[in-house]
Amino acid sequence: MRHSRILGTGSHLPDKVLTNRDLESIVDTTDEWIVSRTGIRERHIAADGETTSELALHAARHALAAAGLKPGDIDLIVLATSTPDMVFPSSACLLQKKLGIRHGAAFDVQAVCSGFVYALATADQFIRGGMSRRALVVGAEVFSRILDWKDRGTCVLFGDGAGAVVLGESGTPGILSSHLHSDGAYADILSTPGHVGGGKVLGDPTLKMDGGAVFKLAVRVLEEAAREALDANGLTVADLDWFIAHQANVRIISHTAKKLGVPPEKCVVTVDRHANTSAASIPLALDVAVRDGRIRPGHLVLMEGVGGGFTWGSVLARW
Ligand code: ACO
Repeated sequence: MRHSRILGTGSHLPDKVLTNRDLESIVDTTDEWIVSRTGIRERHIAADGETTSELALHAARHALAAAGLKPGDIDLIVLATSTPDMVFPSSACLLQKKLGIRHGAAFDVQAVCSGFVYALATADQFIRGGMSRRALVVGAEVFSRILDWKDRGTCVLFGDGAGAVVLGESGTPGILSSHLHSDGAYADILSTPGHVGGGKVLGDPTLKMDGGAVFKLAVRVLEEAAREALDANGLTVADLDWFIAHQANVRIISHTAKKLGVPPEKCVVTVDRHANTSAASIPLALDVAVRDGRIRPGHLVLMEGVGGGFTWGSVLARW
């Protein structure tokens, strides 16, 4: 039976670091407010002209090196982003060009902060179904470009970055399961409603959010999705080695972990340094925990995304 397995991880952050103290001179906020409400201390911000596909390129190269593969070995690119370089071509195709790959398929997935989990689940299906052998799965974002830098309720929460994994065919299961969900009835609680039409940007092109509603929904669906993944595999919370939830807010992660009974030391947390990088947050956190030696062969890793749409889901992987 065909399975897929993560062969290597990589990530990349823009050079510029914006601290909470820096934000104090941009909007009416304090380091204390941001840390106590979100756990965020700093975030990275892309330079002018630094695009999603550019960040993705660096992350992809690191992931390929970790997997011991060359760009030409890749026959599928699935790139999750809500901040693509342009309306089209997809950022996945632009990344494909930058990597010099001229075969296979490349496309974007748009599921906001669940994007990486959606992309990984998609690539797993392609590999298990025999369409692809080795996939590059990327989450990359420049959310700083769609923020209202006058709105203290949202601009303090996000950052830019990219994370990537190489997923390859395997005789033994690496990806044990994936479960995806969405409910468009919640479209209004988190959105960037502007669009391009008639040669102009129509509507508001900056992020709008009902923070309280997002918080409640995120904690509920992350708990449900974790139980769904474990039940489907006949596993329990005690079997988990690592819990990597979307890095939106440390309080969402700790509330969810507490409801599930996951101890804090099994939660990978990078939101303090990266803030919310949307589709990039899970592969960024994953790469940190792989490279610092926490995630080791044989470990059971639960990744969970939740974001605009609303979308949510899980991927459970044996390392
Ligand atoms: N600095 C200082 N004060 C602020 C700031 C800020 N940056 N932002 C808001 N405030 C003020 C508000 O104006 C309000 O003031 P008021 O009482 O005078 O009106 C006060 O702080 C309290 O505002 P609340 O919105 O009630 O604050 P709350 O404790 O709910 O925290 C937060 C807000 C952090 C956004 C919280 O609702 C949250 O974490 N929600 C989840 C949102 C999230 O993580 N979104 C990420 C995208 S979604 C995703 O990735 C799944």
